[in-house]
Order: sequence, then C-alpha cells, then structure tokens
Amino acid sequence: MIRVSVVGATGYTGIELVRILQQHPNVKITSLTTRSKDPKDIEEIIPTLPKNHGLTLETFKLNKVVKESDVVFLALPHTQAMDLAYDLYKKGKTVIDLSADFRIKDAQLYEIWYGKKHTKKLLLGDAVYGLPEVFRSKLKKAKLIANPGCYPTSILLGLKPALENKLVDFESIVVDSKSGVSGAGKKLSEATHFCTVDGDFKAYKVNQHQHMPEVEALLKKFSGKKVSIAFVPHLLPIERGILSTIYLKKAKGVTPQKILKAYKEAYKDEPFVRVKPLGTFPSIKDVVRTNFCDIGIWSSARSKEVIVISAIDNLVKGASGQAVQNMNIRFGYDETLGLV
Ligand SMILES: NC(=O)c1ccc[n+]([C@@H]2O[C@H](COP(=O)([O-])OP(=O)(O)OC[C@H]3O[C@@H](n4cnc5c(N)ncnc54)[C@H](OP(=O)(O)O)[C@@H]3O)[C@@H](O)[C@H]2O)c1
Repeated sequence: MIRVSVVGATGYTGIELVRILQQHPNVKITSLTTRSKDPKDIEEIIPTLPKNHGLTLETFKLNKVVKESDVVFLALPHTQAMDLAYDLYKKGKTVIDLSADFRIKDAQLYEIWYGKKHTKKLLLGDAVYGLPEVFRSKLKKAKLIANPGCYPTSILLGLKPALENKLVDFESIVVDSKSGVSGAGKKLSEATHFCTVDGDFKAYKVNQHQHMPEVEALLKKFSGKKVSIAFVPHLLPIERGILSTIYLKKAKGVTPQKILKAYKEAYKDEPFVRVKPLGTFPSIKDVVRTNFCDIGIWSSARSKEVIVISAIDNLVKGASGQAVQNMNIRFGYDETLGLV
C-alpha cells in the first residue's frame, strides 16, 4: 500500500484523481489539500464519493503532506507547482506534477510560453516526461514525473508511429484539435462561461498554444530532426474529451497497409492505446471516463493524404488517469491497476 496525497484536490484534475485513487487497491489516500483556510466537506466538492469514504479536505501544510505521503500529485495551475515540487522532491517524495512546469527541458522556452521565470531550472533535467508509451523504462525510476498536457497526449500518440517509421513527410503536419471546456480548468472566465460556449464552436490560440513546444520536442525525438506543426485548437461546447484530427502527407512508396501495420505494431502491447481498422474512426464518447486513446487512420492508394484521428478524455488519459498509470509504473504495479 502506498500513501498518496493530492495537492489541489478541488480542481478538475484533482477531483478526477480522487475519483480514480479511491478505487485503487494499492493506494491509501492520506491527504487531499486546498489553499482555503476553511475547507469545505469533500462531499461538497466530490458528491459522487462512496459512503464511508473516510476522506477529508484539509488546508495545505507542507510538513503534514511530507510526513504522510510516499507520492504527491500536484494538480495546480502551471507556474504554481515548481517551488512545491522542489520542496517535496528534496524531502525524498515521488512527485507527479500535472502542470506544465517540468515538461519543457529548456527553461528559456518555458519562460517564453508560460510568461514566468522558471525558479527550479536545476530540476528540469531530473524530470521524466510522463508519456508511458515513450518513456516507460525511465518512469520506473523517476522521482519527478512531468505529466503531459492533454492536447499533447492525443497528438503525440497519433503521430508517434508515423514519424518513427518515416511514413510521412515531416514538413507538412497539420493538427486540428477540439477540446471540451474542462480542459481550461475550474476557474471562471468569460471564454468558458456557459453563455459563451453553449451553441458555439470556435478556434483559439491559433498556432500559438502553449502546448506546441512540448509537442515539438517529442516530435524531434520521434523523427530525429526538428519538426514543426501547424496547430489549431478549438473549444467544443461539451464538458470533456479531445478529438485531434491530424493531416499528413504520405512518404514515397508507403501503402495504407504499411501505415496500419506500423500503428498496430507500435501499440500492440500498450494497454491504453486502441488502433481501429483502417477507415474507421473514434469518437469522444468512446473514450470518456476511460484511460484509452483511440486512433483511426484514413489512407488510400489513390491519394497522398493520410488522416489520423485520435480521441481521449482530457481529464483521464490527458491528465489524472495517465498520472495514475505513471504512478503504477513508478511503484512496480500492473500499469492498468485502478484504471479502465
Ligand atoms: N483540465 C485538464 O483537462 C488538464 C489536462 C492536463 C493537464 N492539466 C493541468 O493540470 C493542472 C490542474 O488543472 P485543473 O484543470 O485541475 O485546474 P483547476 O480546475 O483550475 O484546479 C486547480 C486547483 O489548484 C488550486 N490552486 C492552488 N493555487 C492556485 C492558484 N494560484 N490559482 C488557482 N488555483 C490554485 C485550486 O484549489 P484551491 O483553490 O482549493 O486551493 C484549484 O482548484 C494545470 O496545471 C493544468 O494545466 C489540466
């Protein structure tokens, strides 16, 4: 049994973490924390908890969290996690940070995209990017896990086999992603207000979303060279889910069967990536409240175009489910424990 704390338990990813962790057979939740000096009852925050759950929400106190935890999940806004991650790391805790604070290895790049100085640059080298399908062996020993962003998870899993196997032209990658509103977190804003979102559908941060450097760093790893993407995120008027449509051009001599074979081969042992038959495509409803990433591919002998569509739940495979998958790997458990 490992002792687990969630800092930021009142936010969307924090709530999802508690939902998953309280059903995990090898976990004892020891503290759930908030900044509030007068914490609400946890049932007010998470009404779906089972009876007699024994959990309470507490005001954050570093010493208590350190004393009571083997692993600490940080479900805080980006720029708010780095100092705390450092304190916990120095005290020997395993830290799984859901924010972007340790995802980008280049501190200057982080500062450009997130508008804040990185105060714990020395830790960037120790952080392992928490995409199990790429970094599983490093995650087994990681003390600081930088859990990936939600858009990056859907995009990177959709692109990995195509780039690693050089099946497509690296110069022409267009990613069109759509996310449910929970992707923006719980805080109120005009952009995510019900009256703004309901009945609408629009692009935002066109080709300037803060997840782009994180994606491009991994694409370089997959392809062995610098790869840029055109990226258009959209806000869907639904609660949760991400669907990414990725437009690619086939490399010379590549057949649709070769593409499908590469995807099937890449993910055959991956418990949470499902590749659909050629010409069939996932939908958000297929993956909501699960840790699956579903992938569908369109390719035809008569056309150079290849279209890859991936779907995830932004709060599960895009955040808290993936974080628990990383915890399972780190502590030597079956990777699927507590997850569906
Ligand atoms: N939402 C997603 O789909 C998603 C996916 C992947 C990654 N992430 C990342 O995961 C992290 C958490 O996201 P989230 O969606 O759970 O955010 P959220 O709903 O806004 O929750 C964040 C929580 O952090 C606490 N907090 C502590 N310091 C804060 C501060 N200075 N300002 C605001 N809140 C503060 C708040 O709890 P108290 O007020 O109770 O202290 C709040 O409930 C973010 O870094 C986000 O980028 C989110």
